[in-house]
Amino acid sequence: MTTPAFLPTPVGSPHFAYRDGTLHAEGVSVAHLAERLGTPLYVYSRAALRAAYGAYRDGIGARDVLVCYGMKANSNLAVLREFARMGAGFDIVSAGELQRVLAVGGDPGKVVFSGVGKQAAEMRLALEAGVKCFNVESVPELHRLSEVAHAMGKRAPVSLRVNPDVDPKTHPYISTGLKENKFGIAIEEAPAAYRTAAALPGIEVVGVDCHIGSQITETAPFLDALDKLLDLLDELAANGIQVEHLDLGGGLGIRYFDETALAPSDLLARVFERIDARGYGSRQIVLEPGRSLVGNAGLLVTRVEYLKPTEARNFLIVDAAMNDLIRPTLYEAYHGVLAVAPRTDAPARYDVVGPVCESGDWLAKDRELAVREGDYLAVESAGAYGMVMASNYNTRPRAAEVMVDGERYHVVRARETVEQLLALESTLG
Ligand code: LLP
Repeated sequence: MTTPAFLPTPVGSPHFAYRDGTLHAEGVSVAHLAERLGTPLYVYSRAALRAAYGAYRDGIGARDVLVCYGMKANSNLAVLREFARMGAGFDIVSAGELQRVLAVGGDPGKVVFSGVGKQAAEMRLALEAGVKCFNVESVPELHRLSEVAHAMGKRAPVSLRVNPDVDPKTHPYISTGLKENKFGIAIEEAPAAYRTAAALPGIEVVGVDCHIGSQITETAPFLDALDKLLDLLDELAANGIQVEHLDLGGGLGIRYFDETALAPSDLLARVFERIDARGYGSRQIVLEPGRSLVGNAGLLVTRVEYLKPTEARNFLIVDAAMNDLIRPTLYEAYHGVLAVAPRTDAPARYDVVGPVCESGDWLAKDRELAVREGDYLAVESAGAYGMVMASNYNTRPRAAEVMVDGERYHVVRARETVEQLLALESTLG
């Protein structure tokens, strides 16, 4: 097979690149992985994970910043272990996520517990483990947490997640800091909620928290939110309430198509400037990045089953589907699609669709590709909110996950089997 003169450029990470005309993850051929391990297959690059974390470390320098990886983006144990080893903390939203952190030897003292619906049993587990902080999202939650902690003879460390009502200028489904969202406590109500917190026997106020949304590519919304938090800190100080840390949440955007990723160093430099200017320079900054640590460290590899030209559109029917990667159909999200071994054939424009029985089952629309049956495609930027949002719809076992490390690779989640899917079910006899 001859190689076309122009190969596409993978988006987002230099650790996915063409070598001898075929796509590689670090030193390993993606086609080789697909042949050995089958498809659909999530492929992660360890070097890309490290580089993404390194970008935060570079921006932090000697300042006191704790990066709590927003592990909802990708909670595979191998990914978590990598971040734990590099010194990251974790932002969790369930007892299950806490158990994952503990399973990889992560430090519970670097865990922040977010989420609007924490249950008493989850609170108990987190208190027993000794998490750094609960990001409390409502006054009723504050009361419940105080009761649970008090009954255990403890005081729960708490930040209130305030809703600063800023527009992150991102997709409405993933914007969380606007008034109409279910998240957080309205900033006007925060001083009263903090006074309540300070008076509760099972609560110790340690911080203030916000998270305004996801895939944000500008610094302005973060700085607007920060300004509002700093005003709140002034007001709290006047009421005799001090906090040790400021949690600015996650949300840094990545490149899927032609976006300019928000560089952690740019954002952090501006944050340090502001907190210094306002006299809060000694406070610890906590960040909860998810997508920006893993999004461009992963591909979803799939095989072309059929080419189906129709009068209206050309379809490429592949073996990955909306159950493997729901972002395109759920958010109309763009993910790049690369031929793993591009051909010199004349390209055509295709909608890349899966085998699931829904018209919404698509991965990409109107893409120019030169492929044949049996070829492999790589869906880019699939490291965040890919496998974690996968389902078994249509009784499709979930994909395997593999982590490449230089010239080697490790299967970090085996492909599910139909037997495993059926095992939890029973009939009435
Ligand atoms: N902290 C909190 C409280 C969050 O709710 C989130 C994400 C993060 C941190 C991490 O945000 P990131 O740095 O990843 O933007 N499934 C959607 C994204 C949902 C984000 C939910 N919250 C997607 O695929 O785009």
